[in-house]
Amino acid sequence: MTAALPAELIRPEIACLPTYNAGLALDRFRDLFGTDCIAKLDSNENPLGAAPGAISVIREAAPEVQRYPDASNSGLRARIARGRDWDAGRVIVGNGSEDLIGALFRAVLRPGDHVVTVCPSFGLHEFGALACGARVTKVPFTAGWSFPVSALGAAMAEPTRILILASPSNPAGPAMSEAQLRALLSVTPNDTLIAFDEAYLEYVDPAARIDAPAVLADCRQPWIVLRTFSKAYGLAGIRVGYGITSDAALTGAMLKTRNPFGVNALAVAAAGAALDDPAHLARVVALTTSERSRVSGALRDKGYDLAPSQTNFLFLDTGGPAEKFAGDLRRKGVLIKAWQEEPFCNWARVTIGSAPENDAFLGAVPGR
Ligand SMILES: Cc1ncc(COP(=O)(O)O)c(C=O)c1O
Repeated sequence: MTAALPAELIRPEIACLPTYNAGLALDRFRDLFGTDCIAKLDSNENPLGAAPGAISVIREAAPEVQRYPDASNSGLRARIARGRDWDAGRVIVGNGSEDLIGALFRAVLRPGDHVVTVCPSFGLHEFGALACGARVTKVPFTAGWSFPVSALGAAMAEPTRILILASPSNPAGPAMSEAQLRALLSVTPNDTLIAFDEAYLEYVDPAARIDAPAVLADCRQPWIVLRTFSKAYGLAGIRVGYGITSDAALTGAMLKTRNPFGVNALAVAAAGAALDDPAHLARVVALTTSERSRVSGALRDKGYDLAPSQTNFLFLDTGGPAEKFAGDLRRKGVLIKAWQEEPFCNWARVTIGSAPENDAFLGAVPGR
């Protein structure tokens, strides 16, 4: 018999860390519920998939997988920087942007450090910081789903190592305006690092979209802007995200805390090809935004309260425990995410999928 783990083996901050509420893979759905999922709307994936060119280069790169990839990812970093007025030395790529969130926290946080974020928020913004022994203050959005700029400023009256938030927000959906970002910078202490997570940037209405790295370029604080190929680029399964930082020294520190070969060769090839097909990206965004307005209209007609979304998902008040609401839908083959963060346990997040998936969701949702 294997001996029990010594009581002190696991670090206390890990032992008491909540489990991340990750979405369910399709094969797990079948294993767990014995039926097929007809609408997988729990993980903000892209119903049109990756650009055809990205799939081709994955096939072309496959015969070379016995070779390690370039640990510096210099080709992809240069490709990401190209046409954006970015210095490739400040760009970093990771095994998904979640990998970069972890690398950032490991590079910067000391046990006991203070991290500020919003509530509700993307779970890893909180859990990654807790795993490093930091304390996390979560500041609620305003009642009208605006970013709580002055309350965030008040929270940072206590010395704060990192301010991290997603814009557009996951799970709520609103995106920050340039005026709000500038106001946020004005209330952020100079030595607080700003981590601005733009995983859903591509879905934002172009009229409302801001160039965060350009706005941050002349601020006094250190910063990182994070983006991903998992959402609008449709490459969630291959795992690749990227960031641009205020300083090559910050990128360099994160390269030390990231796995050296964290981004695999197929992901590197696919990400470059995805960037080379803006027409595919435009199709994805057009489908998602038109379906988003159709689904949100239908949900409002059914009596649901929704947060305003600039993303590929909607956040709705289910009117009761969201776990039960999501469980009822699951029995009909529709998978959505019940939110598990107080005080939002009556809320659920649903991805905008293909039209048939959205129809299946709307057909399964009861009126309120
Ligand atoms: C706000 C936000 N940031 C980061 C991520 C992580 O994305 P990935 O690791 O797939 O790039 C997600 C994924 O859902 C997200 O919603």
